[in-house]
Amino acid sequence: MMNAIVVFGAPGSGKGTQAKLLSECLGIPHISTGEVLRERIRKGESLPSGVLATMKAGDLVPDQVVNEIVEQRLCQPDAAQGFILDGYPRTLSQAERLHQWLGARGERAVVVFLEIDYNIIITRLAGRRQCPQCRTLYNLISQPPRVDELCDLDGERLVSRVDDSEAVIRERLDAYERETRPVLEFYRTNGSRVIEVDAGQGTPESIFERLCQAMEEDDRSKNCR
Ligand code: AP5
Ligand code: MG
Repeated sequence: MMNAIVVFGAPGSGKGTQAKLLSECLGIPHISTGEVLRERIRKGESLPSGVLATMKAGDLVPDQVVNEIVEQRLCQPDAAQGFILDGYPRTLSQAERLHQWLGARGERAVVVFLEIDYNIIITRLAGRRQCPQCRTLYNLISQPPRVDELCDLDGERLVSRVDDSEAVIRERLDAYERETRPVLEFYRTNGSRVIEVDAGQGTPESIFERLCQAMEEDDRSKNCR
């Protein structure tokens, strides 16, 4: 059986942070559609026109663009045993597409929903920094680098994301409410496993511990059903 995990939550809920820990723990790839898009932009690889502007404005890029990215990535050999999706699906149409893709393989997604208050999100995203070289995430408040603004691992100067200004964060939260939140209902009503985790309180490690416990409890209750 394939381990198809969807890490679901609002912008800044900690999807990237938790998906990385989960990927290291389970030994399956972490696939972030946002990271793939940013990487392509950085490398100057071809993307339909308007994608960069859409991301800068905090809107969602067209379904077709991300569906293609995900389907190509899921067919890579390292994803054969499973994968962790971060930031996908985030529209009903994407969710239906993934459901079909998995269904054709006799599989179903397990959804980990990171619940968090919007006030915490704004503070977290305003303080987020990332190493442009190794992609390690930092937070000026909760996970600062040892030396101001420099990556602990390779000494590169840390950068902020262009979509982390307060005005764009609000746009991203609007897009989440409008287009992404309904995806949760899609999963809740089609018999998929949806595991809810309080992602607002505690360190990334303590949230990860809660996440693993919740997954284990859900596994046990599934076996008793
Ligand atoms: P994407 O890159 O997916 O961004 P997002 O959903 O807005 O989420 P973020 O990456 O901002 O937050 P996160 O939940 O990963 O949190 P993180 O772990 O970094 O998408 C960007 C854009 O790409 C979209 O707006 C859209 O345009 C496009 N796009 C991508 N996928 C798409 C799709 N499927 N369809 C259409 N368009 C798509 O944590 C945040 C900060 O908090 C960090 O600094 C971290 O260090 C810190 N932190 C984490 N956990 C804790 C904790 N427990 N305590 C304190 N600080 C913490
Ligand atoms: Mg992320």
